[in-house]
Amino acid sequence: MLIQKEMKLADVIHHDHFLIPVINRFGIHLGFGDKTIDELCRENDINTIFFLTILNAYHDHEYFPKKHLQSFPASLLVNYLLKSHQYYLDEKVPEIEKLIVSLPDETDMDNGTLTLLENFFSEYKQELINHIRREEDLVYPYIVEMEKAVSSGVIPDSVFKQMADYSITDYEAEHENVEEKLFDLKNIIIKYLPETKDDRPFFKILKELFALENDLNDHSRIEDLILVPKVEAMERKLKSMKR
Ligand SMILES: [Fe+2]
Ligand SMILES: [Fe+2]
Repeated sequence: MLIQKEMKLADVIHHDHFLIPVINRFGIHLGFGDKTIDELCRENDINTIFFLTILNAYHDHEYFPKKHLQSFPASLLVNYLLKSHQYYLDEKVPEIEKLIVSLPDETDMDNGTLTLLENFFSEYKQELINHIRREEDLVYPYIVEMEKAVSSGVIPDSVFKQMADYSITDYEAEHENVEEKLFDLKNIIIKYLPETKDDRPFFKILKELFALENDLNDHSRIEDLILVPKVEAMERKLKSMKR
């Protein structure tokens, strides 16, 4: 299903409830009645094409918004991505951490296994934080500066220097490492957990890990499939302006 602006948002959510945190990041809160996407975007001052692009990218993994890529500014996308970083680091990761830390009270699992899980999770967390910091300190500011240069026609030397030092294509490979680590963490529980009287505390953690993985993979796909092509197009444009 392609999500379109004439659709009622409530129908879309009934169809795919994983979109609730996504619409929330745009400032749309529950209780929106029978309003269409278009109506809600206007009311909340949201760029409709951008909103649809993000919803469709989360909803359909094959979706690729080629013809809409140029119709919203990269800075809008960067703002959205920053908000989802905040959601991972301030909400999801601490929630999972809490579940892991409270395991000794909830299970008869041996201490060795619990320590292994705890250590593995904190390594994963560090890797995720490093990736996010790198995006926020390096990649995103570069993109915002580049967009300013394209629209004003004034190209500071710093932008060219950054273009020479760092091509956006290197950036895609980074996502795979973070994803692998989370996959390994899930496997410690799925494949190698020693027998225990009560599996339920581990089900809960797994469920949260799957949900985080799902959201993060969508996030990275948006960075790879929407942000990167936009930046590549800007890089080409700036190179042609220099000539
Ligand atoms: Fe990101
Ligand atoms: Fe990323």
